[in-house]
Amino acid sequence: MIAGRADQAAVYYESPVTGASRTITYAEMLELVARFAGVLRNLGVEKGDRVVLYMPMVPEALVAMLACARLGAIHSVVFGGFAPAELAARIEDAAPKVVVAASCGVEPTRTIPYKPFLDQAIERSSHKPDRCVILQREQVTAEMGERDLDWDECMQPGTVEPAECVEVVATDPLYVLYTSGTTGKPKGIVRDNGGHAVALTWSMKNLYGIEPGEVFWAASDVGWVVGHSYIVYAPLLAGATTIVYEGKPVGTPDAGAFWRVVEKYKVASLFTAPTAIRAIKKEDPDARELEKYDVSSLRRLFLAGERLDPETYKWASEKLGIPVIDNWWQTETGWPIATNPVGIEELPVKPGSPTVPTPGYDVQVLDDQGQQVPAGTEGSIAIKLPMPPGTLPTLWGDDDRYVSSYLSAYEGYYLTGDGGYIDEDGYVYVMGRTDDVLNVAGHRLSTGSIEAALAGHPSVAECAVIGVADQMKGQIPRAFVVLKSGVNIESDEDVEKLRSELVARVREEVGAVAALKLVDVVLALPKTRSGKILRKTMRQIADGQEAVVPSTIEDPTVLDTLRPVLRKE
Ligand code: COA
Ligand code: AMP
Repeated sequence: MIAGRADQAAVYYESPVTGASRTITYAEMLELVARFAGVLRNLGVEKGDRVVLYMPMVPEALVAMLACARLGAIHSVVFGGFAPAELAARIEDAAPKVVVAASCGVEPTRTIPYKPFLDQAIERSSHKPDRCVILQREQVTAEMGERDLDWDECMQPGTVEPAECVEVVATDPLYVLYTSGTTGKPKGIVRDNGGHAVALTWSMKNLYGIEPGEVFWAASDVGWVVGHSYIVYAPLLAGATTIVYEGKPVGTPDAGAFWRVVEKYKVASLFTAPTAIRAIKKEDPDARELEKYDVSSLRRLFLAGERLDPETYKWASEKLGIPVIDNWWQTETGWPIATNPVGIEELPVKPGSPTVPTPGYDVQVLDDQGQQVPAGTEGSIAIKLPMPPGTLPTLWGDDDRYVSSYLSAYEGYYLTGDGGYIDEDGYVYVMGRTDDVLNVAGHRLSTGSIEAALAGHPSVAECAVIGVADQMKGQIPRAFVVLKSGVNIESDEDVEKLRSELVARVREEVGAVAALKLVDVVLALPKTRSGKILRKTMRQIADGQEAVVPSTIEDPTVLDTLRPVLRKE
């Protein structure tokens, strides 16, 4: 057809959790997308309207995203691991005309019915979508209500007229993807059409070294930015083949899961999070599983989403015997801020560094006064304006928050929220967030939303959540709660009961991905005189680092009392 790829595979769907696999060619994909765009158009979706998607890793998620793009409608995908309250916050903010969801997600140990979550979320939100299109999966049949329509019925050939592309201008929004800030209210990152398409297409060859017709596998989830950019848009814009993988690096069924897929589909490049590699390494330290498969097609392994620790880097490069490339970026940018631009020039790797700033990004390290620091000195990593194409133009419906969150810290710079340094050779080192955003298994979570869930418990007066170092997940959340006066919780059983209630609340309100397990009951939280909780100081103590105690601390004895508790895990 038009670009000569009609019979080439656009999508390989591989689902070890259900046993399904399927190949969809470009011609078939186009047909499905045009048909689903027709379905959405019949439901009144027009250019500029929002459509929220709450889907697991199934090809229909891509079909729905691209159908929105075809109509000029704005999709907003919500990660399946988020609970109703998080979904509700996104529905409230995006005000979608239609929601597209599946009846369930399938995790290795359990099937999660999505529809009751969706119904609860709509119940909680003051905005109600007109319609919900539900993909019924065989593992769980969702109960349908008045506003619900069945995906398969809507998509019956002959029942719907495929929709043509609707023209948009380059700066029209393509999607809104919510990400965690420090408060409980998620930030709606806006992505435009033109800059995004240009940047991602360019990145496939120049940053990832992928040619049209090759297989590029980003083992992430469509609910995250890596999924948006490198499962859906970039590979398809570049004429490559993408893989929709519904499974995990381990346990589906074993630590050879990734290598099996690489062999089956002759994957040229694999992109995942360091956590996934740590999980494989833990289960199969000698990489015995790797020996069972022919992974000779694999040229490079790309890792992003969290800091790539040198040990994981070393293990992966030794076992695979191919270049392992760290790349640093964020939901806000949509593509790497720093990487090894292998398609332009493959630079020597320095373990612990995602190499150099990507062309288009003027990355600088600043001190508190906004002055550039000398090479090797740590500071706040900022990007000198203007930002390159594809990066966020604003936050959905909140230009002021965009300016205050990103542009007001340093005049003329975008604040990344990460700290680190640049060495004499221009290599960037990203050491971690300077704010209270958590990064759990490569998933970005907000302290604010976990704290809000804890604070809703009737016994809790106040609380603080910090991210502490974890061997496997990079970071895990740890909570400290102060009880309301008059609440008497003394026995070990009482404390245990409270703990499990709090853990359950976070699971219900934020979602299973928050993975909160560590909760301590404490007498008070360390604060500044203006009432700001000293989370960073707490985190430094918990991680055994040298702690910086601000001179504005209200009562130093509170911190002293807390030290042993912080150090104990
Ligand atoms: N829908 C519903 N629940 C989900 C989910 C989804 N899409 N994804 C995860 N969850 C649940 C899990 O079932 C788990 O629940 P449990 O506590 O009942 O077991 C919980 O959320 C935590 O999940 P996860 O973070 O995946 O941890 P895990 O211990 O199950 O698995 C790894 C550990 C390392 C295998 C896993 O974290 C992983 O694959 N990481 C790679 C990270 C990644 O790809 N990040 C994307 C950014 S690039
Ligand atoms: P997200 O928006 O979910 O992609 O998370 C972005 C955050 O993850 C960044 O601000 C960093 O804190 C962290 N991050 C992502 N990639 C890397 C990397 N390669 N090295 C260090 N930190 C990273």
